[in-house]
Amino acid sequence: MAEWALLPLRLFLGATFLYAGLQKLANPNFFRAPSPISIQAQLIAASHTSPLHALLLHLIRVAAPIGIVISFSEVAIGIGVLLGLWTRIAAIGGAILSFSLFLTISFHAAPYFTGADIVFFFAWLPFIITGGGTKLSADAWIANRVAQREGVPSPELVAIPFATVQQICGHFHQGACAAREGLACDKAVCPVLLGNRAPLVTRVSIDSVDRRALVMGGAVAAGVGAAALILGGVVAETGKLIGGAKPARSATTQFALPTGGSTTTTAPTTGPTNSTTKGTLLGSAKDVPKGHAAAFTIPSSGDPGIVIHADGAYFAYDAVCPHAGCTVGYYAANDVIVCPCHGSEFAVTTGDVMNGPAPHGLAKLKIVEGSNGNLYLQ
Ligand code: FES
Repeated sequence: MAEWALLPLRLFLGATFLYAGLQKLANPNFFRAPSPISIQAQLIAASHTSPLHALLLHLIRVAAPIGIVISFSEVAIGIGVLLGLWTRIAAIGGAILSFSLFLTISFHAAPYFTGADIVFFFAWLPFIITGGGTKLSADAWIANRVAQREGVPSPELVAIPFATVQQICGHFHQGACAAREGLACDKAVCPVLLGNRAPLVTRVSIDSVDRRALVMGGAVAAGVGAAALILGGVVAETGKLIGGAKPARSATTQFALPTGGSTTTTAPTTGPTNSTTKGTLLGSAKDVPKGHAAAFTIPSSGDPGIVIHADGAYFAYDAVCPHAGCTVGYYAANDVIVCPCHGSEFAVTTGDVMNGPAPHGLAKLKIVEGSNGNLYLQ
């Protein structure tokens, strides 16, 4: 029953990792540096909040290869765990990956349990400790097959109730054990279970079965690994064909605010009254054409900010994701603001959450366009 009880968790973890790997491979924007949902954007965002900050800054340069390794690792782990093939090794890989993601992109998730990676890490532990079990497991199938060929009993453990042992041992009589000179029957000291019976199989034959099972398991794993590579490659090429022609037009300009002095400027505003108002000069509105965004630093908080030109107006937000503090970006292809870390999506015109896990929307900033063609933050 314990093995059956763990089966749903094993299948869930396997299916989830397989899906996560294929989803990355199917999305060419995951590997394109300018995209706000790319692995590079994720590393940059994570480098602001992760305790592995210094390491991530180095890894940004090799973001695309890292993305490929992560994607194929997830596919391999997913298939291994689904099939119950080299389950313990796959579970160790899954735990390492989950813990790495926790340290990089989920470290500041608040409350902590809203970041899935720490939960995944602990979900892997039972399979590291016990392996994949014997139910619907390629490992168990291989071990049994090799044992059959070698003519040794199945390595699968079979639980027998102690009452059955009492019935067949021949020493049990009304609660007393004749083999223990009439003392109470007790499974902890049962002479039948602990007895000096000859081993059913010799160590040599067990070693031989273990070796053959290892070789056969390795051959099956190599075959499945090759199939995973082909599957991943096909999915990646299909993703390029379907979505490759439509790259994410991130095109985010960086506004450099004046440093070393007051950033407050008198801004002549557009409108019927052409009045003036105070604000922080961001830059020229011409640098943010329709369907584009610009990034800047909010002087009052030091947070990253983003201004987006959409629907004939400018919308500005504090770009810190309310989930775990990554920096959001404008995903022009879908006209949505996205967080690269866990995929939260926010409406461009309101900043409201469209898809979690962000618990609430982005903090809106007030921005005006002056009659001189500049954008001002108020
Ligand atoms: S930090 Fe998790 S969705 Fe943004």
